[in-house]
Amino acid sequence: MSHVTADQLPLRLDDQATVVGQAVRVPPELPLLAHVDWAALAAELDNSGFALTPPLLSAEQCAEVIALFDRDEVFRSTVVMAQHAYGEGSYRYFTEPLQPLVNALRTSLYPPLAGMANRWAARLGEREFPPELTTLLDECAKAGQHKPTPLVLRYGPGGYNCLHQDIYGNLTFPLQVAILLNTPEEDFTGGESVFVENRPRQQSRAMVARPGLGQGLIFPVRHRPIPAARGYRRVAIRHGVSTIHSGQRYVLGIIFHNAT
Ligand SMILES: [Fe+2]
Repeated sequence: MSHVTADQLPLRLDDQATVVGQAVRVPPELPLLAHVDWAALAAELDNSGFALTPPLLSAEQCAEVIALFDRDEVFRSTVVMAQHAYGEGSYRYFTEPLQPLVNALRTSLYPPLAGMANRWAARLGEREFPPELTTLLDECAKAGQHKPTPLVLRYGPGGYNCLHQDIYGNLTFPLQVAILLNTPEEDFTGGESVFVENRPRQQSRAMVARPGLGQGLIFPVRHRPIPAARGYRRVAIRHGVSTIHSGQRYVLGIIFHNAT
């Protein structure tokens, strides 16, 4: 039997309908969401293991989120990555209530991503996720996961993020979104987004993404389905950031499940 790679897997029509069928709301503060082709992103996610969106935030909105980074009252905790050997840089988790823009993004991005997550869940025989974020957060609360997980990350020259997965409790929504808040080559150099897929009984595959200002990367929290001889199998994916050579790189991370 010939080996079928993920690249050769077509997006089935019923899969597209599942994604397109999600009610994608475009709130007034996020007009750029109207330009997102979710079915195309779902296909890209299947083919590559990650998907690059068009800009979701304007340059002004990116600057607005960057400006939050030094406001202590906006965050519940701060992690200096070197202290945990996670890398070099720091990140801050937003406190509740979330900043309106962050909350609008998390709430609006969730339904189409739930469509993508449920398509993957069906392939892997995993649980389904509810169509609305509020329902997921209620489930998180019942599981003891109360703390909000959206965060802003900042890397300076020499900064990097080791390959990792983001798991914050037993209840894990399988996809997350990272939005780049700076302009590559102008505000910083280096600092590519890196993904490594650990394929069973094969050597690992590395992939690199270079989002532009305001663009989002949709990627798995820990694994994804790839075609197997019969059906699909699960492959682990870790993500990280290569070394920033100069300047500063800020990212807004939207994780959908809450943390313990
Ligand atoms: Fe991460």
